Amino acid sequence: MNPDAVLSWGGPRLRDLPWRRTRDPWAILVAEVMLQQTQVSRIIPRWEAFVRRHPTPADFASRPLGDALREWQGLGYPRRARNLHDAATAMVERHDGAVPDELDALLALPGIGPYTARAVLAFAFERDVAVVDTNIARVLARDSGRRLTPGQVQAAADGLVPAGHGWAWNQVLMDLGATVCRSQPRCAACPQRGACAWNVAGRPDPDPALGSAGVSGRQAPYVGSVRQARGRILRRLGDGAVPVDALDPAIVEGLVADRLVVVVSGDGHGPAVAQLP
Ligand code: ADE
Repeated sequence: MNPDAVLSWGGPRLRDLPWRRTRDPWAILVAEVMLQQTQVSRIIPRWEAFVRRHPTPADFASRPLGDALREWQGLGYPRRARNLHDAATAMVERHDGAVPDELDALLALPGIGPYTARAVLAFAFERDVAVVDTNIARVLARDSGRRLTPGQVQAAADGLVPAGHGWAWNQVLMDLGATVCRSQPRCAACPQRGACAWNVAGRPDPDPALGSAGVSGRQAPYVGSVRQARGRILRRLGDGAVPVDALDPAIVEGLVADRLVVVVSGDGHGPAVAQLP
């Protein structure tokens, strides 16, 4: 991989995405959490509304989690909203309501993993760290021509960041993965086609991206899944409490265990009800 060539290819082509126009660490953290399992096009309007409503970690932490879950409707994977709420609470307690700018402090926040922590450092604080998501892992595995473990992908990525260009470099690599080095690659359009070990070898099977750093085939089907059943209940509870008897007990139990739902026992007059926290 020739980072300078990739950077000069990609810099002028960067997709104009709203979270690329800010360096506000909280806004960027929210974007990165939303982007982890949901498509860019679905995030854009939701991210803008979210950061307008909750402009700081303290604003968000002061709202009940139920508000966050209502706002998360349709984005899926609602544990992300709970984790973000937990992280905002921890930032108020530990960091005066600021998003920390140190890797260890970020990783110590609830629900913030290596990807999110480095994304905040690179995209908000413009640090020269290497962000690794599945798109970037796919690029680096193909470039090396070998299936890589997560540690190997991170090490390869760490060695590439051009000094002083961490922000642009990581964004370019993400766009390369999202637009060119896709699962079905468009190698003719790739600035690295002459240097990529897998392409130079004639793209033999198996694709080294498969199995590298959590690069998997696709998400499990949604229709008929537990995820769908959970989503239905959360949506219903978004409009108000519902008697527990009217809901699938196993699904409610899972939601309660995940702290996404609370069950309030009847006060002698009515039945126990499930509601958002
Ligand atoms: N996916 C995750 N982070 C992203 C970003 N900063 N830009 C575009 N897509 C992303």
